[in-house]
Amino acid sequence: MDLIKDIEVGASGAKEPTDEVRISRETNTGKAKKLYIESYGCQMNFSDSEIVTSILEREGFDSTSDLEQADLILLNTCSIREKAELTVRKRLEKFKGLKDNDPKKQIGILGCMAERLKKKLLEEEKIVDLVAGPDSYRDLPNLVKELDEGRKAVNVFLSREETYADISPVRLQSNGVTAFISIMRGCDNMCSFCVVPFTRGRERSRDPKTIVKEARDLFGKGYREVTLLGQNVDSYKWDSEGEERVNFAQLLKMVAEVDPELRIRFSTSHPKDITDEVLFTMAEHENICKYIHLPVQSGNDRILKLMNRTYSREWYLERVDSIKRILGEECGISSDMITGFCSETEEEHQDTLSLMEKVEFDFSYMFFYSERPGTLAEKKYEDDIPLETKKKRLQEIIELQNRHSLRSNEKDVGKTFKVLVEGTSKKSESDLFGRNSQNKVIVFPKGDQKPGDYVMVKVHACTSATLLGKVVDKERANG
Ligand code: SAH
Ligand code: SF4
Ligand code: F3S
Repeated sequence: MDLIKDIEVGASGAKEPTDEVRISRETNTGKAKKLYIESYGCQMNFSDSEIVTSILEREGFDSTSDLEQADLILLNTCSIREKAELTVRKRLEKFKGLKDNDPKKQIGILGCMAERLKKKLLEEEKIVDLVAGPDSYRDLPNLVKELDEGRKAVNVFLSREETYADISPVRLQSNGVTAFISIMRGCDNMCSFCVVPFTRGRERSRDPKTIVKEARDLFGKGYREVTLLGQNVDSYKWDSEGEERVNFAQLLKMVAEVDPELRIRFSTSHPKDITDEVLFTMAEHENICKYIHLPVQSGNDRILKLMNRTYSREWYLERVDSIKRILGEECGISSDMITGFCSETEEEHQDTLSLMEKVEFDFSYMFFYSERPGTLAEKKYEDDIPLETKKKRLQEIIELQNRHSLRSNEKDVGKTFKVLVEGTSKKSESDLFGRNSQNKVIVFPKGDQKPGDYVMVKVHACTSATLLGKVVDKERANG
């Protein structure tokens, strides 16, 4: 079995943050040039690619999903682990041939790798013409002009204000039902292993009025679910002179009130910041999904301290208890885990396993520690756990999570859930799939339902990744 592949997929089988998404968008409005964009990393990056496309389609570009036709090829990149960067480097190697055949093709690097490596990228990757960090996308039309004038172009300025609040993103890879809305950018947390504060800059929140407007527009276009995105959504804070202050719980309420038929999700919550106010707001609104992604990273206090996560195992478990107290056992909880962090002992690794036993996450994204240049951990601690040990520990975590995911799904057999239909199942044309409030994927035989409908589905079987069911009582579900 390919261990690395397993690591990248995660026990849930869900899309791992470093999977790439190519944009299958074609516009033919007679613009002079064609843009091709490919995204790696987290949802923030995918969301940013929608902003970039929106900016460039206004400025002389049509979109294409055909590399051969593209005049400008953009890679929106991720730096979170070494492997994420290696994937992009390999992709660039593939592009060399393209550029040899057509030297006029321009290649740009966006996102976190652009920010981390800056000008160095131009030296290291000769085929790259443009480097633009996450806060410089408004400047892309100017940067492209520089390319047209024969110069290479770089903008890696990080802003304290930019939220792209006024830019209405073009929806890429869309099923027409679910969409992401960025509510903040950057991160002030400084977890010692993490490169994000360096690649995305300081935390800033977006004007709530523009968030609600975006949600309302999406609902009007037929979307039925929005996911509010940020590295640490619980520290969302709008504090503008002369305007009412808005915290995350209040923002959730505002978006939930757009329409009861619009589902709300959010990601990512930080265990130190998630408040009871947020949990009560979730409880009060049926359309705020009962699912929380609450990355724990480690179950050991000494390691949590070295990671600078600023909470303890006890604190984390108390937050989980509060979730269950306020939202009931039905609330889904998932996590991220890092194994083999600097100086982690076998006993400390066992603490992570025992925390997992206590919480029984519905699913998790699991990684072994990958040292990132410039982070606090790289400066202060030695990356001293042998790769073999990291992989062994990771494998143990994955196996335990798989057992928990299966058990969690087995508990759902016999239950009926309200499911938002997202599309046709990848495995069978005669099945549809959607998710329940707890974020679990449910597959069921197609009737007269269509994407965007809510249906009641009774679960009769499961795997560790999917629930299988049948539609029941359609009237009640649509009523
Ligand atoms: N802002 C989110 C997560 C962002 S990165 C949060 O705080 O939870 C997504 C996940 O990647 C992290 O939760 C962590 O588990 C993992 N990760 C981040 N840096 C890593 C590193 N250097 N090595 C391995 N995994 C890492
Ligand atoms: Fe990275 Fe921590 Fe910020 Fe998440 S909260 S992005 S892990 S620094
Ligand atoms: Fe990767 Fe940057 Fe997101 S490092 S995980 S693309 S914020």
